[in-house]
Amino acid sequence: MFQIRNMTPEDFAFAVQITDQMSWGLTEEDFGFMIELEPEGSFVLLDGSGKIGIATTVSFGKIGWFGNLIVSEKRRKQGAGSSLVKHAIKYLRSKNVETVGLYAYTERIPFYEKLGFQFDSEFTVLKGTAFSSQVKPNLKRVEKQDVSKIIDYDSSCFGASRRKLLEPILSDPDNLCYMHVEDGQISGYAVAKVYRGVAELGPLMCQQGRGDVAINLLRTILRKLKGREVSMCVAEKENSIVNMLKESEFSESFRVARMFLGRPVGGNYIYVAESLERG
Ligand SMILES: CC(C)(COP(=O)(O)OP(=O)(O)OC[C@H]1O[C@@H](n2cnc3c(N)ncnc32)[C@H](O)[C@@H]1OP(=O)(O)O)[C@@H](O)C(=O)NCCC(=O)NCCS
Repeated sequence: MFQIRNMTPEDFAFAVQITDQMSWGLTEEDFGFMIELEPEGSFVLLDGSGKIGIATTVSFGKIGWFGNLIVSEKRRKQGAGSSLVKHAIKYLRSKNVETVGLYAYTERIPFYEKLGFQFDSEFTVLKGTAFSSQVKPNLKRVEKQDVSKIIDYDSSCFGASRRKLLEPILSDPDNLCYMHVEDGQISGYAVAKVYRGVAELGPLMCQQGRGDVAINLLRTILRKLKGREVSMCVAEKENSIVNMLKESEFSESFRVARMFLGRPVGGNYIYVAESLERG
């Protein structure tokens, strides 16, 4: 009764229209980026009457990420959403992915558990206006020659190379990227993607126990972005980061649960998500 096929540029208008129902703020350009990253990894679900749902994936070697799952309101609770998730898992498996991650609204945890995912940890999506505060001037702005080193560092933390995602982000002159180097070794980096007048902060990756480095990375970037609206998805357990942001008038927009099908990844690092749909 349902059919699933790969998303193509002709579907982008539908993808924007359906995700607007959840106010996810996605544009045709965002779906274009997903297809650029994973040409056969985004899907459209149809029934006899037309398009009724979408989902996206991206694979990074043995780790894949699932996101943007939505089904038309009048066609829910008939198995459509589950069939999109299963189709996406099958696709990621065909790319040799061993662990599939996702961020779920906390009320959707049981839905994903039925499909085999396990709860890993809670994340909070914080929004606020970037502010200026005191920073330690010991960070390096990421330049072209640093990009490969950052990608290698990220890979050692994340568990797989996110080169195809990080290269365009780190090379975009509109974005802000800083790294912390100690004894010749990177011990943390952070990026803010700046577009359409707002900024999404992430990824941030930092050695566990170096909250001071993570906070300095965040403060440095927020100082540069002063006055702009910024959002970020931070691990709830990072109290020092969450408290610092809340004390500076950032507030929680909503919460999500990081869930994995397969061995969990990224748990041993201070982690701000790149995005909800790509990890
Ligand atoms: C999440 C979402 C995609 C699920 O889509 P769906 O098509 O309703 O998914 P399914 O029908 O496969 O499963 C939904 C529920 O209906 C139940 N169900 C499935 N077939 C059923 C049937 N024939 N009769 C009764 N119930 C059924 C499932 O067991 C499931 O129950 P649960 O929510 O208690 O786990 C949909 O609710 C949605 O678009 N929500 C808004 C966007 C969103 O929240 N996306 C997820 C972000 S994390």
